Amino acid sequence: MRVVTSPQEMRSLVGEHRARGEAVGLVPTMGFFHAGHISLMRAAREENDCVVVSLFVNPAQFGPGEDLRDYPRDLARDVKMAGGVGVDYIFHPGVEDMYPRPYLSYVEVEGITEGLCGAARPGHFRGVATVVAKLFHIIPAHRAYFGLKDAQQVRVIQKMVEDLNFDVEIVVCPTVREEDGLAMSSRNIYLGEEERKAATSLYRSLQLAEQLVRGGERSAGAVTAAMRGLLEGEPLVRPEYVEVVDWQELRPVERLEGRILVALAARVGRARLIDNILLDVP
Ligand code: PAJ
Repeated sequence: MRVVTSPQEMRSLVGEHRARGEAVGLVPTMGFFHAGHISLMRAAREENDCVVVSLFVNPAQFGPGEDLRDYPRDLARDVKMAGGVGVDYIFHPGVEDMYPRPYLSYVEVEGITEGLCGAARPGHFRGVATVVAKLFHIIPAHRAYFGLKDAQQVRVIQKMVEDLNFDVEIVVCPTVREEDGLAMSSRNIYLGEEERKAATSLYRSLQLAEQLVRGGERSAGAVTAAMRGLLEGEPLVRPEYVEVVDWQELRPVERLEGRILVALAARVGRARLIDNILLDVP
């Protein structure tokens, strides 16, 4: 496996693979790998001849006061883990490689970026869409892999690809969880022992939502109220939003039908955690 830092070199290497008729898979990440990242790499490894993992903590998607400086990093460990899955290249550019000064060009996906995490993190999805668009240009992959853990991010990337005619297939992979249900996240490392226990309530509230829907509940308000009730039983958990939205537009729904996303964000200690489930309601 090779670690490449230069965008020009990365593009020409991928060009050589494409010229040989190989299928190229890209897994965009910010590093500090866990089993969720690894599942995307495995999926990419199975479906492509050449696998590139990008590892870049993208300043453009962090707001003021967010954890850009503290974001966990461990390149040596990440290189080992990616090597173990058979990744061919890690693209690991510097900030100045990705954002030459003055940097003036951004990608803005409207509408679906306004609610859920977009409401509390203005500019976040603009930073995500911009860096992913840049990665798609530097690494012209046939397929790119994203986790459903970040469901709104998935919709933003899908919409950007559709609207701006990117020639890449977006492959969406299921959320990988700890044994007790907590969704894997690089930010789980911020949790103290008691907070780690309390954090299981996020997934428990999603499971409650699923049970209620399976039991015939069709009122979004009733579902989110029950979820909030469960979360309120954990004093260490401060919910930011608990919402039911339609999968296409990510707009709040009142009646549960079709493909819906039950999503939440909460602060637990200094960590901001998100989780969700996607349900198909008959
Ligand atoms: P990062 O948080 O490192 O996540 C990289 C990829 O791993 C994303 O597609 C994310 O959805 C996926 N992922 C994270 N946790 C997961 C889990 N528990 N199960 C399955 N997949 C999981 O998301 C980003 O980085 C950035 O926003 C990025 C897209 C790289 C742009 O900077």
